[in-house]
Amino acid sequence: MKHLLSPLDLSVDELNDLLDLARDISINPKKYSHVCDGKKLATLFYEPSTRTRLSFEAAMINLGGSVLGFSSADSSSASKGESVSDTIRVISCYADICAMRHPKEGAPMVAASKSGIPVINAGDGGHQHPTQTLTDLMTIRELRGSLDNFTIGLCGDLKFGRTVHSLINSLIRYKNIKFILISPKELRVPDYIIDVLRENNVEYSEVEKLEDVMSQLDILYMTRVQRERFFNEDDYLRMKNFYILDKSKMNLAKKDMFVLHPLPRVNEISVEVDDDPRAAYFKQVQYGVYVRMALILTLLGLDKEIQ
Ligand code: CP
Repeated sequence: MKHLLSPLDLSVDELNDLLDLARDISINPKKYSHVCDGKKLATLFYEPSTRTRLSFEAAMINLGGSVLGFSSADSSSASKGESVSDTIRVISCYADICAMRHPKEGAPMVAASKSGIPVINAGDGGHQHPTQTLTDLMTIRELRGSLDNFTIGLCGDLKFGRTVHSLINSLIRYKNIKFILISPKELRVPDYIIDVLRENNVEYSEVEKLEDVMSQLDILYMTRVQRERFFNEDDYLRMKNFYILDKSKMNLAKKDMFVLHPLPRVNEISVEVDDDPRAAYFKQVQYGVYVRMALILTLLGLDKEIQ
């Protein structure tokens, strides 16, 4: 049985197959509308979510299956002290596959070790968010035609932003990707990510000012300052408006640069940018449904059954 706990659980070939399947789903959605008839997805969300939980639910419904689950720890027996290990044993009796979001790093891995069904990490603390990465990779591949040969600027909270950690881990497996890491000193990527870049001889630089590097970027990946992971509210207030992408900064960018953001956004992208044809963050949301449909089919072993 296969789980998805980290983006590296899929080889590059498996990832490319999954992205091909997601593209086919986007072109021929009707072909897939009954593939999961009778199957159930459980969404176990111990932390708030709009996109990830609802896109998983939409994905399973689009495939003909059904969904059950909880959207907060408070509304589950976790509030009575039940462990993740016990919960997943129970859920394995109710569902065929599950997506879990948890504030503690590694909780989905603990669940997977006791689970009778595939477990998908839907975000664990400040650690990883592999299905956002699948969404990001599909978005980049659909917009640029390839996952090789580009410069990506990752901007904002690179310390706590789990989508950034997962995306860097994945993109280093492709050819000629250059990373420009744009953050205040206090929110730089963790050392273990820098170690990964160095060990793989990947070109990267760390800068503080977005304006200085804007003209070099093919992709700008904006992120929110993760208020919920700060220990001190004053630190959050000092950092929260450090970057605001607006029209004047977009004027410095290439005409074919794309702006991505995992969302939710707070202030870091001005709404005036939304109408710019280079703003791709709402397209990204749509790709997230296709890629999660492809992932459910793959983990349930149904991907090869479709004619
Ligand atoms: N991108 C993302 O994980 O959004 P949600 O927190 O709304 O799921």
